[in-house]
Amino acid sequence: MKETFKAVKVSEHVYWVGAIDWALRDFHGYATNRGSTYNAYLVMGEKVALIDTVKAPFKGELLSRIASVVDPKDVSIIVSNHSEMDHTGCLPEVVDLVEPEKVYASVKGAQAIAAHFHPAPEIEAVKEGDTLDLGNLELTFTPTPMLHWPDSMFTYLAADELLFSQDAFGMHLATSERFADEIDRGVMIEEAAKYYANILLPFSPLVTKLLAKVADAGISIRTLVPAHGPIYRTEKDIGWILGLYAEWAAQKPTKKAVVVYDTMWGSTALMARAIGDGVAAGGASAKLLPLGASHRSEVTTELLDAGALLVGTPTINNQMLPRIADVLTYVKGLKPRNLIGAAFGSYGWSGEAVKHVEEILSAMKVELVAETLNVKYVPDEDVLAQCRSLGMLVAEKLVERC
Ligand code: FEO
Repeated sequence: MKETFKAVKVSEHVYWVGAIDWALRDFHGYATNRGSTYNAYLVMGEKVALIDTVKAPFKGELLSRIASVVDPKDVSIIVSNHSEMDHTGCLPEVVDLVEPEKVYASVKGAQAIAAHFHPAPEIEAVKEGDTLDLGNLELTFTPTPMLHWPDSMFTYLAADELLFSQDAFGMHLATSERFADEIDRGVMIEEAAKYYANILLPFSPLVTKLLAKVADAGISIRTLVPAHGPIYRTEKDIGWILGLYAEWAAQKPTKKAVVVYDTMWGSTALMARAIGDGVAAGGASAKLLPLGASHRSEVTTELLDAGALLVGTPTINNQMLPRIADVLTYVKGLKPRNLIGAAFGSYGWSGEAVKHVEEILSAMKVELVAETLNVKYVPDEDVLAQCRSLGMLVAEKLVERC
């Protein structure tokens, strides 16, 4: 495939040389229904630099795109902005083939690469504000720890006013178009929100700080190039994604209640539907997510702009249903903030599951607005009226908070 895949010019000195993964549907538990891209970039200075590599099976595509611009053996520098293997999977093989003068990463990046590959390529560690001279161009490094790994780093090319932002501002979206201004805005907002919710949500306070730091530093960004999905090359698109990140990081409560539930014989589902009707009647919005039809990463995405989380489960063998345990484990780790909520469900001869759910919601710092609603077998009219009242109470609290 030496001459099959071509690079795409991004700016005066930069080419996209990444790979498109049309088949990806699962990214460590996150449903990537529209595939993804692994973006790598060539900086054509007097010394040629490669910014990041790609997931291991796509090494040939990367090398083919590089070869459409320059002999891969002319790459003198490799910068690894992030050591997760969708960006470093083929790094050792590329280093062996290209034999660059040096490979750079953050201090934590150097440690992470050494712990991933055996043997690992030799890495020179860089710190905040370090620069690298490519002859006629200069790269500046800014580690962004925990956005989203300890090793994560931004690299800035002042000559093109271009920021390599690794995972930040990215999305899992496979397209033949490379630029945000060529892609449907509705699709991008869905995928950018899903990406933020499933990857960056736990680090929202750091996102807020980083956005302020970039604004204070007065760095001019004419092109923003993430490690996944489209490249932002217009002021409008850069402002759009930065604005969304500021909004998502703040996680201000809205009048939306997410009702997540699973059911055995329909009782918990019926309760959820009555709660949802109460939420709507109370002047808020309800999003019901039956887990038989909703993936955990969809639940997380819906929580990105929600003000309430209600969780319903039957009790089975003294436990919650497995899909509820799955979602709660996943969502708890992503640390959604500013939520009110409650637990509800149906049981047969013991009803521990709803209490277990309530304990998890408490550990997630969800403010519980009502006692658990736990009904034996099938809810009657009285119980359904209580469910509806619970929905109305949640709506009332949401309206107060917004
Ligand atoms: Fe795209 Fe954190 O890897």
